[in-house]
Amino acid sequence: MSDPFDRAVRDHHRGERETPLLQRDGDRVRDHPIEEFYFTAPAGEGLEWLEARLDGPLLDLGAGAGRHALVFQERVETVAVEVSDHLVATMRDRGVEDARRGDMFDLRSTFKRDRFRSVLAIGTQTGLAGSMRGLRELLGDLAFVTTPDGTAVLDCYDPTVEATADLLGHRTDPTPGLAHRVMYFEYEGETGDVLHFRLFSPDRLREAAAGTGWTVADVRRSGEEDGRYYRVALEKR
Ligand SMILES: C[S@@+](CC[C@H](N)C(=O)[O-])C[C@H]1O[C@@H](n2cnc3c(N)ncnc32)[C@H](O)[C@@H]1O
Repeated sequence: MSDPFDRAVRDHHRGERETPLLQRDGDRVRDHPIEEFYFTAPAGEGLEWLEARLDGPLLDLGAGAGRHALVFQERVETVAVEVSDHLVATMRDRGVEDARRGDMFDLRSTFKRDRFRSVLAIGTQTGLAGSMRGLRELLGDLAFVTTPDGTAVLDCYDPTVEATADLLGHRTDPTPGLAHRVMYFEYEGETGDVLHFRLFSPDRLREAAAGTGWTVADVRRSGEEDGRYYRVALEKR
């Protein structure tokens, strides 16, 4: 993601953030809740659901400030990957034992086949795959780096749920089950690159998974987001 995002999260961690991190789509703007999104430890039913579906060694992709890695490393070997140096440094500072710089869309050149039992990617960064083809490639890469009994958990906003259209940056797509989200971050007057997320329904995810070695084992909706946000558990055949 863009530098303003990384800097704001790092500054927040250091207690040096004086201005909000803004999420923008042209004139539409909202404060991005850094503490709530990146520094609140997973807990309760949501965590139990993850724990029941993930095992180690675990790969945490787009690990942010490491809130999941900090919990899972207590139980299993956990490798936390971030594209941003600031966030890798932030994770290490927070106690993440194995935080590395890497690109979740270039996993085959980073990790050997069967290296992990499970993969976790929480934060809708899967949508940065950009297309159904990109999603299929990502799922293929996840299958490559996981064991034959591997599992994965990914998340997304569901375009088939009405409330998804209210998301900042939402753009419709005529194809059922697909949409776009386009937005950028602004911090201390600096704007980042425009981020293009593709939004997939669970059925589209099932379709993309076909032939990659994964099947959709479970879909969990959040009650807090009018059902538009979901997590999907993948298993190997
Ligand atoms: C919304 S945050 C989620 C952070 C964390 N998983 C959490 O739940 O708190 C998405 C993260 O994905 C990271 N990211 C984006 N593109 C990436 C890529 N190509 N490879 C690795 N990480 C990436 C961003 O830097 C950002 O920290």
